[in-house]
Amino acid sequence: MDLDALSKKLENRESFPALPSILSDVIHEIDAENISMEDLSRLIQKDLSFSAQLVRQANSGLYAEAGRVSTVLQAVRLLGFRMLKGLCLTLPIFSRYRNVQGIPELWYHSRAASVCAGIVAGRVHNVEKDEAETVALLHDLGKVFLILEMRSFMNDQIQMADEPDRDSDWKCETGTLGINHCFIGARYGRMFNFPGSIIDPILWHHEPNKATHNKEMTHVCCLGDQIATIVGASHPDFPFVEPSILTSLDYLGIRQDRFLLILTDCLESVSRISPLDWPE
Ligand SMILES: [Fe+2]
Ligand SMILES: [Fe+2]
Repeated sequence: MDLDALSKKLENRESFPALPSILSDVIHEIDAENISMEDLSRLIQKDLSFSAQLVRQANSGLYAEAGRVSTVLQAVRLLGFRMLKGLCLTLPIFSRYRNVQGIPELWYHSRAASVCAGIVAGRVHNVEKDEAETVALLHDLGKVFLILEMRSFMNDQIQMADEPDRDSDWKCETGTLGINHCFIGARYGRMFNFPGSIIDPILWHHEPNKATHNKEMTHVCCLGDQIATIVGASHPDFPFVEPSILTSLDYLGIRQDRFLLILTDCLESVSRISPLDWPE
């Protein structure tokens, strides 16, 4: 597929994996900001599969309430509307394509990056923790599109992942396809009316210095992404840490001693996520 064909595909919402219709309704209600948690939970319960995934997510060991969440309403209260919308866009898609090469590793990486970004957000000013967690959960969603649509290219990338002196994933994508997963993820975010505070970090998470708005959140997302790699939850197609981590540490004023504390927290929290913990 050439760049023109790929660009045309990206113009069309149908090109992206379709969401179950009830989840489209859930996203619509969250965007309208006029629904109670109780009513939203009743709507979610019409999708039995997603309801079970949501309760499982709330019990995944990442929250203090883990093991005690038994209803959709409890899960919604725990996760909040923003994270709920992020999960509407990720859980069904990752679950549906769980047998495709690269998808399980990407799901593990996305959840780990979410946890790490939340920990970083807790240690800097002006960044909301749950928004940082949502941003990082979504940051590589564009890669799902590439894995599904450009399978031979992505399979080659995964095969070559460990080769030394290799360009970063996003640079290889730009070099070969003329487009990269950051751009595609931001397009997806725009289709679902996410605010700039979520779209900008998705677009610039590998080049945080280029963000002109939402800079703090972009650097927090960059750190969450890179720290997930450091603690062992890397991308299937690029397992190395990028120099942008130094840029983001510097921008956020995180010195060595604070970074070591953050790393320790991230390592401990990510160890509670199972790489094999799939949404059923
Ligand atoms: Fe990325
Ligand atoms: Fe990533």
